Amino acid sequence: MLKDQLEQIREQAQDQIKNEVKNAQQLDEFRVKYLGKKGELTALLRGMSELSAEERPIIGQLANDVRSFLENKIQEAAQEFEKSAMADELKNDVIDITMPGKIKKLGKKHPLTSVTEEIEEVFISMGYEIAEGPEIEFDYYNFKALNTPEDHPARDLQDTFYINDRIVLRTQTSPVQIRVMENTKPPIKIICPGRVYRSDIADATHTPVFHQIEALVVDKGVTMGDLIGTLKLFAKKIFGENTNIRLRPHHFPFTEPSAEVDVSCWVCGGVGCRVCKQEGWIEILGAGMVHPNVLEMCGIDSKEYSGFAFGLGIERTAMGKYNIDDLRLLYENDIRFVSQF
Ligand code: PHE
Repeated sequence: MLKDQLEQIREQAQDQIKNEVKNAQQLDEFRVKYLGKKGELTALLRGMSELSAEERPIIGQLANDVRSFLENKIQEAAQEFEKSAMADELKNDVIDITMPGKIKKLGKKHPLTSVTEEIEEVFISMGYEIAEGPEIEFDYYNFKALNTPEDHPARDLQDTFYINDRIVLRTQTSPVQIRVMENTKPPIKIICPGRVYRSDIADATHTPVFHQIEALVVDKGVTMGDLIGTLKLFAKKIFGENTNIRLRPHHFPFTEPSAEVDVSCWVCGGVGCRVCKQEGWIEILGAGMVHPNVLEMCGIDSKEYSGFAFGLGIERTAMGKYNIDDLRLLYENDIRFVSQF
């Protein structure tokens, strides 16, 4: 009896899986119908306990055959469905390689960033460290500690934006010198890149916001010769091997002696042309030996230590290097402009 039922299940199942099971979901229903907890085969097997001792092994064997027969069929069908699903996907997922691609517009490093990094590289290779300070600065650091008291005429040249009586937007990166000297025992060898502010009207050579890099070296026995050697090397690295420098006496309250430093024109090499306004030289930075008052105000003994400092405009350097004739172009953020460098 059981034997017949088992055979019948096998036939019925074989017929069904061949003709009726068309997809993975139906296959799952099929599996549950026969092999599930309440499935037909499972139900039959439950009747085994009523069989006699002779019948049990024979029927048991047959039942196992039917079960593995069904399991195999199910597995085969599952593989088939998987294969055809994949084939469908491949068929529908055609890529038209002749279609125009999506072009991502890549940005470009801003020339001010490139020049800053280039200058930083030069000084890092000479053993300088990079220091930074706040753009919103105490009047004390921006002026007073730099030997520029309230009534000093030099303040007029660097008129700025006042937050209140004590706090200004810094007009120069020189206040970072003070902050470093207050906290560091010499030897000191730093550069300080950063944004500075002056209340200037924007034109081809001025903007109220611009960038500088300050350099400061303080140690025993630092001389003007060290300053000139450093500036020469810097000019050659940035503007080319044949570049010369020239120092003109100048006045800064925080250096003594002070100089304005020109480099030989990178276009004509010093002969005179439109770029250097026939001068042969282009002014790029201010420099000098750190004023003893400044050292003393930072708690550094000016009889034991001396130092040099200079500050250069990054915009001016970038304009020279890349032949840009209007400073404002650097702030328009036009990708067509920026991509040229
Ligand atoms: N801070 C000066 C300026 O902005 C430049 C400078 C720096 C001069 C260091 C001398 C020494 O004009």
